[in-house]
Amino acid sequence: MKPEIAEAFAEALKEKDRFVGGAAYIDGRFMPLAEAAIPIGDWAYRRSDVTYDVASVWKGNFFRLDDHIDRFRRSMTTWRFTPQESDGDIRDIALAVVALSQLRDAYVGMDCLRGKAKLGLPSHPANARNYIAVFARPFGWLIAPEVQLRGAHLIIAATPRIPDSSVDPRVKNFHWGDLTQALFEAHDRGADGAILLDHQGFVTEGPGYNVFAVLDGTVVVSDHGALEGITRRTVIELCQELGIPVAVRLFSGDELREADEVFLSTTAGGIMPAARLDDRILGNDRPGPVASRLREIFWLRREAGWHGLPVNYQLPVPAGVVRG
Ligand SMILES: Cc1ncc(COP(=O)(O)O)c(C=O)c1O
Repeated sequence: MKPEIAEAFAEALKEKDRFVGGAAYIDGRFMPLAEAAIPIGDWAYRRSDVTYDVASVWKGNFFRLDDHIDRFRRSMTTWRFTPQESDGDIRDIALAVVALSQLRDAYVGMDCLRGKAKLGLPSHPANARNYIAVFARPFGWLIAPEVQLRGAHLIIAATPRIPDSSVDPRVKNFHWGDLTQALFEAHDRGADGAILLDHQGFVTEGPGYNVFAVLDGTVVVSDHGALEGITRRTVIELCQELGIPVAVRLFSGDELREADEVFLSTTAGGIMPAARLDDRILGNDRPGPVASRLREIFWLRREAGWHGLPVNYQLPVPAGVVRG
């Protein structure tokens, strides 16, 4: 751990009980989650000028943390953020906030914020000092486990996804206007979630998840217009390993409407089967066999620490052990 971060961590350890249940790091300092805040004038807030990633900890193990940090770095590079923390620092900080929180199942957010123009410089994002925020809070489900078991009821939103030539959806961003509209559409129609098509009618993704269809026994996921989800990648790899045909390609809303099964994937929920799409009942109004099998294997493996990096919850952490 870098000396400045180790020093900040040592400071936090003096009052470690205050961090239990939720811990954050912002720009060089650790604090209880309830005290984590950003200034109202920050472009991160005023212009949604922030990028982020979300990883998870399940039964004390981070899932694919380095893949999340790699994608976080790609997002930062795409949106031209240059924080002072290295990838190794972010890894140390992520482990530290979870250890402080003592949470065995956690949602771990990492944000990079634009900041404000440095004193005396013109008000332009190029003149801002960017900084990192990382936090751990209890794991939360995008779609509740009981809804996943009965199968989510989904709609295809009337709102199209913002064109990828305007906002690159392969990296994370806070341009959630279209996704939020779609969430309201789902809410108004009594559904659990929404799927957005692009302006040409091809499937993209939903608010916080990738979208899969099972078409004649093949699992299909879009090759464009969507975040390159870490859970999406895990689903593709799992299908390849299990001998389930999988195709990463353009697919249309019409194909989705005719699919045998539909399911979603995300860090905050895993593999989430659907039972209804618009007015159509899929299968027997229950999660389909392919999605159910993938979901079951996914969670069995997660319980066993699959792709895992164990968190050391012993505080204070002896020097050199924080990296797990
Ligand atoms: C828009 C969007 N698509 C897809 C995903 C799924 O990505 P991951 O599996 O990496 O969580 C997310 C994750 O939060 C997301 O925000």
